[in-house]
Amino acid sequence: MQTSCFIDGKFVPARSGNTFAVRNPATDATIAQVADGNGTDARAAIEAASRAFPAWKNLAAIERAKPLRKLSELMLRDAERLADLCSQECGKPLAEARVEVAYAASFLEWYAEEGKRVYGETIPASDPGKRLFVLRQPSGVAAAITPWNFPIAMVTRKMGPALAAGCTQVVKPAEQTPLSALAIAELSVEAGFPTGVFNVVTGLDAPSIADTFFDGLTVRHVSFTGSTEVGRILLEKSAANVVRVSLELGGHAPFIVFDDADLDKAVVGAMASKFRNAGQTCVCANRFLVQRGVHDEFVKRLTTAVAALKVGDGRTPGTQVGPLVDDAGLRKAEAHVADAVAHGARATTGGARATVTGCTDRFMAPTVLTGVTPAMLCFREETFGPIAPVCAFDTETEALEIANGTPYGLAAYLFTADGARIMRMAEALQYGIVGVNDALPATAQAPFGGVKHSGLGREGGHQGIEEYLDLKYVSWRIS
Ligand code: SIN
Repeated sequence: MQTSCFIDGKFVPARSGNTFAVRNPATDATIAQVADGNGTDARAAIEAASRAFPAWKNLAAIERAKPLRKLSELMLRDAERLADLCSQECGKPLAEARVEVAYAASFLEWYAEEGKRVYGETIPASDPGKRLFVLRQPSGVAAAITPWNFPIAMVTRKMGPALAAGCTQVVKPAEQTPLSALAIAELSVEAGFPTGVFNVVTGLDAPSIADTFFDGLTVRHVSFTGSTEVGRILLEKSAANVVRVSLELGGHAPFIVFDDADLDKAVVGAMASKFRNAGQTCVCANRFLVQRGVHDEFVKRLTTAVAALKVGDGRTPGTQVGPLVDDAGLRKAEAHVADAVAHGARATTGGARATVTGCTDRFMAPTVLTGVTPAMLCFREETFGPIAPVCAFDTETEALEIANGTPYGLAAYLFTADGARIMRMAEALQYGIVGVNDALPATAQAPFGGVKHSGLGREGGHQGIEEYLDLKYVSWRIS
């Protein structure tokens, strides 16, 4: 297991010599002591990436594709080891971690191909003596700040497009989950990336590392996945050197079920969207809006399915819901339940911590709340926990009003059989992603990202690579 920063093709301790403990949130067992890098280490990584940039960008895209594809293959080869590491670091069930490895590998494979399609443009000139064209060129060194909830996939979702475009990269993984990023770095050596193209700086001092990303002209793009609060700070920092940022921030997804929906499918979708990673995903359903005609039946079926979920250590076979990542996460989920119940909601299942023998007390029983109103905390803020608050509505207009009544706009879900309504709702929902009878829309081929306070820019799809490209307009007088 690698535990040092990965800079200029080598695993190196932090310059300070300091380390920090990475713990399994289910048991609090120390998994490893990891290099506690800071701005100085980030500076060294940026310099390495900057040295590597000219040769990497000048390679043909078809050549850059080779190590990208190889890395994807190596990740699939080592899927079991990576999944186990991921499960230990962030607590998610092993079965989900396996899916995450495949999802992560798909970004590398897909962008290995997409990098070959970075086409330019010719423009018909009004002056017959001129030829006008547009080049799309890699912008330079890219930095990435990745979250703990998908410790593998959020690295490759940023790495794939950056490296395929011809940028070099420095990644700062979340302090809770640095080991997965270091495992990717280790495989990147075997995949054959040239020295300095991909670097990882681990450390607790995220502000000093982030400051270094923004303190000069070398880093030209910073991609961040995390909270809206931190996203705002990074956006402010980016102003000084006019660094481009991609921000994938908080969500507050409505999950809307209409009377005509296939209820079996809606419940299966609700379970997948809400309880993946114990509700700790930006795109997870945070508010269930259910039309009155099917409300009681939906709640009944959802309650039965939720009550049957197996809570436990992610590495215990059969676990479906792991721990919250830390105590603050647990307290927030508890506070949302307490606030809802105090204001008249009722838990049809769950509603309290779950006890898991031999583990920490960081587990929340999967919960369904009914009688929730838009005034309650869980209907105003992202919970990031395994809590499903349900509220009844009568009309499409009312559902839309509640769904859009938030500053967030990442993902929304819609379950209905009515084609015209699907079109009306998909157009009117103020969200970057709309899942129609589909609770898991994210895929390497499609643009992922939000509107309003949920962020800027897109990851995935051909749009994802644009973030790493600068346009250059060339005007050539030939006569
Ligand atoms: C996230 O919610 O942070 C990412 C989820 C996904 O890619 O499916």
